[in-house]
Amino acid sequence: MAQLERALKHIDAQRCAYTEELKEWVRIPSISAGAQEDSTGALARAADFAVAQCEGLGLRAEKVQVSPDTNPLVVARTPSFSPGRPTVLVYGHYDVQGVDNPRSAWTCDPFGAEEKEGYLLGRGSSDNKGPCFAHLKAVQALRAAGGEMPVNLVFLIEGEEECGSRALSQFITGGGLEDFGPIRGVVISDTSMYGPDRPSLTLGLRGILFFQLTVHGPKQDVHSGLFGGIIHNPNQLLVRALATLHDAEGRVLVPGFYDQVLPLSRREKTIYDALEVDEAAYCRNLGVKQLIGEPGYSVLERRWTRPTLEINHLSGGSPRTVIPARATAVISCRLVPDQDPERIEAALQQYLRAQLPAGTEVEFGNTHSSPAYHLDPDHPLVPRALQAIRTGFGLEPLLTREGGSIPIVTQLHQHTGASVLLIGLGQITDNWHGPDEHFSLRDFHRGMRTSAALLCALGEE
Ligand code: BES
Ligand code: ZN
Repeated sequence: MAQLERALKHIDAQRCAYTEELKEWVRIPSISAGAQEDSTGALARAADFAVAQCEGLGLRAEKVQVSPDTNPLVVARTPSFSPGRPTVLVYGHYDVQGVDNPRSAWTCDPFGAEEKEGYLLGRGSSDNKGPCFAHLKAVQALRAAGGEMPVNLVFLIEGEEECGSRALSQFITGGGLEDFGPIRGVVISDTSMYGPDRPSLTLGLRGILFFQLTVHGPKQDVHSGLFGGIIHNPNQLLVRALATLHDAEGRVLVPGFYDQVLPLSRREKTIYDALEVDEAAYCRNLGVKQLIGEPGYSVLERRWTRPTLEINHLSGGSPRTVIPARATAVISCRLVPDQDPERIEAALQQYLRAQLPAGTEVEFGNTHSSPAYHLDPDHPLVPRALQAIRTGFGLEPLLTREGGSIPIVTQLHQHTGASVLLIGLGQITDNWHGPDEHFSLRDFHRGMRTSAALLCALGEE
């Protein structure tokens, strides 16, 4: 029996034991974004857990403190690389979002890791501990199956995906990947499947431009009866400016916003047009009456291939009769190939300034960005990834894209020159970042199988 077959049998037999280990990881409240209290200890423990897991796989693993104020980065590798074997880099993140979204909306303990009707409940179960763990356990199974590991392995498991990936980004730009030599492929499971029993290879992620815009007014909040009528109100200036960002049908009106957008190839359009879309199910799941968006594009084109601009948060003043000192909007654009985040940022700043009266004090801050990622459907690794999904799931995989962003993906791609294979194991209904996050344990199982098959496939000539 071949190594892969033995590994698959091992995974099938160890499924429950591996699930119990995953629960331990999910029980650690390693919140990096939106923590109510200090999470430093929990982040360190979640990183230690990953290090111990990697060591258990015979990898050389360390918790790297890239700089004093960043969360630890877990770096693990096969201790000595076999020169004849390709190297594969697997990326995941152990940090999770906060649980106050709102906390009262959770019907389970966010860090209880309860199992219910085939799902593991808990913050981080799907984004991203469960999918990341599937790769670790696939390596364990390949080891248990005997024989040499089919590839040299590098695991990068970061603790800052949800808050900007600063440590990993510094690690990469500081030459951290150079020790590993050429990389054949990067493997990531931090996206979603097309649907239940619809595994997919994700060909693209949208990029992001995130920033905060503050409009300043009087030096402090002042009485709106005393001074209303003689000074600008920052709330009003801000909402008027924001109201000019889109037309009534949802197109972004900022000059130049669409200039660099590459049209979708006929090949990809055909692939996505063939996917069925149940608009009523979207409406039901989201609790909305209808879907909207840019005219002339299908729902999937709008979700995956068109750029957007969203106002994520507004604040200013208080619910009293005041004219506030300042008003702030948090805005993010999702970017597509070949939009350049810096060009979009400049265009937006110029446009927004022009929408405000001359002399208004405006501040842009908290900016971070990364361009979109895209993999050619004809890339030579695509058939290997699809075959691995077939082996893992026993189902025919789909080719998709995603609307979300994993900012480090582009950097990993640029610095390794390797293509990134995005094989999501979660569902868009798993409530990432929301209450009652959950992860299908059946997909955890099929994900471990897929990963074992993929590592073998990537090891082949
Ligand atoms: N796992 C998601 C990325 C994702 C989301 C992929 C949706 C595919 C579809 C990741 O943890 C995430 O939430 N990323 C953030 C990044 C942002 C804060 C820079 C996102 O997309 O909003
Ligand atoms: Zn996330």
